[in-house]
Amino acid sequence: MSESFEVHSSLRDYTVDVGAGLLDALLRAEPALHVVCDQQMLAHWPSLARRAGVIPVLAEEARKDLGSVAQIVESLRRAGATRGSRMLAVGGGVVQDLATMASSIYMRGIDWVYCPTTLLGMVDSCLGGKSSINVGEFKNIAGNFYPPSRILIDPVFCRTLPRVQRIAGLCEAAKICFCSPDEAFEDYLRLMAGVDVFDDPSALVSLVSLSLRTKKVFIEQDEFDQGIRLLLNFGHTFGHALEGASGFALSHGVAVGVGMLAAIDFARRIGLADGSAGRTLALQSHVRELLAGVPDLSRVLGDVDPEQALRRFQSDKKHQQGRYAVIVVNREGFVERIQLPADSETAAHIRGTFGAVKELVA
Ligand SMILES: NC(=O)c1ccc[n+]([C@@H]2O[C@H](COP(=O)([O-])OP(=O)(O)OC[C@H]3O[C@@H](n4cnc5c(N)ncnc54)[C@H](O)[C@@H]3O)[C@@H](O)[C@H]2O)c1
Repeated sequence: MSESFEVHSSLRDYTVDVGAGLLDALLRAEPALHVVCDQQMLAHWPSLARRAGVIPVLAEEARKDLGSVAQIVESLRRAGATRGSRMLAVGGGVVQDLATMASSIYMRGIDWVYCPTTLLGMVDSCLGGKSSINVGEFKNIAGNFYPPSRILIDPVFCRTLPRVQRIAGLCEAAKICFCSPDEAFEDYLRLMAGVDVFDDPSALVSLVSLSLRTKKVFIEQDEFDQGIRLLLNFGHTFGHALEGASGFALSHGVAVGVGMLAAIDFARRIGLADGSAGRTLALQSHVRELLAGVPDLSRVLGDVDPEQALRRFQSDKKHQQGRYAVIVVNREGFVERIQLPADSETAAHIRGTFGAVKELVA
């Protein structure tokens, strides 16, 4: 089973192909590609390991910085890449963020292809053309838009993915589908019911396709994060804060899963919605079920200092001067972007949510 569709972008239109064997076919067809690859993938994928000149990248959050971008640029130069060269990036979100930035600035920009190897990369981050680079203690604070010309998704990469990475990807897919005002979340729940998508290649292709086609609607309407696309930050303001405050013991997608539960709790605290809408309850129960598979989650969340999480929440780049911007779930069970005064009352509610976060996943 395979899927293919086009994404329209003011920067350049690009194609997304989902199916088996796509990476090896590209490697055979284009021997001159400059390959940037998650170092760990070299052990799993013989055709990459055999290829000369691969630029290995350590896929660690702490290495998703400008120094690593510079290393890729330097390696491309040493490998003789020119303005007409094409780069292939193979890896999860860390490799993608580094590759987006490096390809955008190398000789003022070269063509590139992305092959995501994590479920999170497949269902979410591959689409939208954003890079997000950490600087100092500030996560994802620097970045730009530079989409690849092709995205090749081979779900077979999920075979070697650790369980937590699978759960992280499912949290992001659930989030994207939930953010849609259409039937995507119901379709997602139907797809997930009674089947382990990791044992069923066609269900996995359908899941990736559903999530990306849903995200495509948002990004084609609002490519540069000025309006409707901001809704996809649901779970992220709380999630990023928890991710950082846990010292990155929580992986990104898992933090987003917890962040969605936190945003629902926060809406209740500020009196916006009590969380009793059917959609909200369905999301809560699904996310809790997913998160139950994350070892040690309750201990990690119990160790998070609410004050530190609050400070990280406050430094989120989506806020305006004097106002916090938060995506919450409203009374009807749909996501909504609200702005709240950045005062001590709001801070007390945020602190309250972070203080209770361990109970939210139980
Ligand atoms: N730019 C965007 O639009 C965007 C969107 C969402 C997330 N992100 C970023 O993505 C990052 C998270 O990325 P991620 O969760 O995809 O993972 P990752 O790139 O952090 O990789 C996680 C781990 O899985 C390993 N791995 C990757 N593929 C594997 C495979 N097939 N089999 C076995 N192990 C594999 C990696 O080596 C690493 O150890 C965060 O930094 C986040 O900020 C960016």
